[in-house]
Amino acid sequence: MCGIVGYVGPRDCSDVLVSALTKLEYRGYDSAGIAVFENGKIEVAKTKGRLSDLVDKMKKEGKPQGHAGIGHTRWATHGEPSDINSHPHSGRRVTIVHNGIIENYKDIKKFLIENDRTEFLSDTDTEVVAQLLDFYYDGNPIRCIRKVLHEIRGSFALGIVFADRPETVYAVRCESPLIVGQGKGEAFIASDVPAIIKYTKDYYLLEYGEIAVLKNGSVSFCDLHGRMVEKELKTADFDEDSAEKGGYEHFMIKEIHEQPTAVKTTITPRIENGMPDLSECGITPEILRSFNNIFIVACGTAMHAGMVGKYVIEKLARVSVTVDIASEFRYRDPLIGENDLVIIISQSGETADSKAVLNLVKQTKAKSLAIVNVKGSSIAREADMVIYTHAGPEIAVASTKAYMVQLSVMYLLAFEMAYAKGKITEFECRNLTEQLVKTPEYIEKAIELEYNCQYISTKLITADSLLYIGRGLDYALSMEGSLKLKEISYIHSESYAAGELKHGTISLITEGMPVIAVATQNSLLEKTVSNIKEVKARGAMTIVICDEFAEIDDDAVDFLIRIPKISEVLMPMIATVPMQLLAYYTSVNKGNDVDKPRNLAKSVTVE
Ligand code: F6R
Repeated sequence: MCGIVGYVGPRDCSDVLVSALTKLEYRGYDSAGIAVFENGKIEVAKTKGRLSDLVDKMKKEGKPQGHAGIGHTRWATHGEPSDINSHPHSGRRVTIVHNGIIENYKDIKKFLIENDRTEFLSDTDTEVVAQLLDFYYDGNPIRCIRKVLHEIRGSFALGIVFADRPETVYAVRCESPLIVGQGKGEAFIASDVPAIIKYTKDYYLLEYGEIAVLKNGSVSFCDLHGRMVEKELKTADFDEDSAEKGGYEHFMIKEIHEQPTAVKTTITPRIENGMPDLSECGITPEILRSFNNIFIVACGTAMHAGMVGKYVIEKLARVSVTVDIASEFRYRDPLIGENDLVIIISQSGETADSKAVLNLVKQTKAKSLAIVNVKGSSIAREADMVIYTHAGPEIAVASTKAYMVQLSVMYLLAFEMAYAKGKITEFECRNLTEQLVKTPEYIEKAIELEYNCQYISTKLITADSLLYIGRGLDYALSMEGSLKLKEISYIHSESYAAGELKHGTISLITEGMPVIAVATQNSLLEKTVSNIKEVKARGAMTIVICDEFAEIDDDAVDFLIRIPKISEVLMPMIATVPMQLLAYYTSVNKGNDVDKPRNLAKSVTVE
């Protein structure tokens, strides 16, 4: 939610800020702005709309010329997207960009008004912070920032410039992510590493309450008490190409194609002599044997990966698994026992509700395990154990490769746990692991169905609403298929357990309504086919995803997508591909902005 950047160095600052913001637009794209020191004075350019609108505006009106500044791309929280509400926001001597929310901004605004500070132009919580900084500013930026940090509440990261401290950028982080890049004679701040990877791979992770000062091309840090802090310089394990489209039309389709590699990179280091081995993540067979119950908690797509995990862990390891939406779990006073495990799945590792669940678990004796893609993210750092997925940066707002690697980790965990608990034999475990190792090859083959999916998607674009149905693992999977389609095509869709349809939902079926049936579970095939026939008999247009050998009666199907067959339990990793492709091409055919769907943003750092 919102991307912030900052730069100090010899390059053209406006160009660097815009280039870095391009890589952060996935975090918000309803307005954009920059503030740059030009001849010692802060010049601001900002506008409602995409970053490209800002660039157009600067082409017409001129861009700020200078070598130090801050920038922002917004996902509106307080106040509609408008020129006035766009960041940066200023007090008299202070200008800031902000990611996150300030919970007590109303109290602060009241305090400022009572103290004769009444010059508020926008509806944002950000402007209130700019004014508060200005109110306390006595010529000592660090003292002022520290004072303000003690008064504001919420989750936020700020980039700050003070009018009388030219060529210097200050940054501070509480909850919302912020990294500080160090190049040769230049320094950066950014909400995420891909923003600066073009310039440097070296960066520092700013910790809670730490303040960074970027000056003369280098960086210094202090803590909340004003004490200097030495920090470890980290190096990104990906390069610029990973954050570029590389010839694809959209990041989403590029990321779909990256899935075989992402799975290989994620599972290979966790397999030893043909057996799953999560010891590099601090997970041993003894630990896996020790849990009574498992809770999997996450949001959106990550929660759907958890649904697949539940079926697989319960089936193989015979441990009870409850899957919860993080925003519900945190408020439902869950019964977490001391021998329970809470697994938090998150691509970004910064999702506010998932983070809150982790904090809740820390107040119990249960263990927490994070399955996270972004290295060094808050959830990864704060959990007892972490399994990193190695998908590389996921830029498209609609998650594809991150989901796929989350599934692969769910399998590794289920296999190792099942074996540790003696629920499957070594032979069975080896066999399942061998099948998992083969999945990249099968995913590759499923991607070859691209043109078939592209064609079928032309049949979906006129639909007002559609259904996804499936049983067992296919049901868990269809939840993700449905989410993917609705978030980028804007067509309403629901996923339904196929056997549940006739208890109410089948009344929605009308002539020509598309129903996408996932039927990859051979043990449930006959029953699913009966449900497909039930909707077909009521006029539905059926699209069936099944394995290459499944026997499906012709009269049940309008369009068939046959995917490579692998062990039944692993079929979700293959079947998800045509669902991603159907969603992608439906969105493309509708002329939508695939990578930046309306109203959405990646990395949801607000509640
Ligand atoms: C949908 C999507 C979201 C995220 C959700 C959780 O395509 O990407 O539903 O899965 O916002 O995000 P993370 O995984 O970063 O916690």
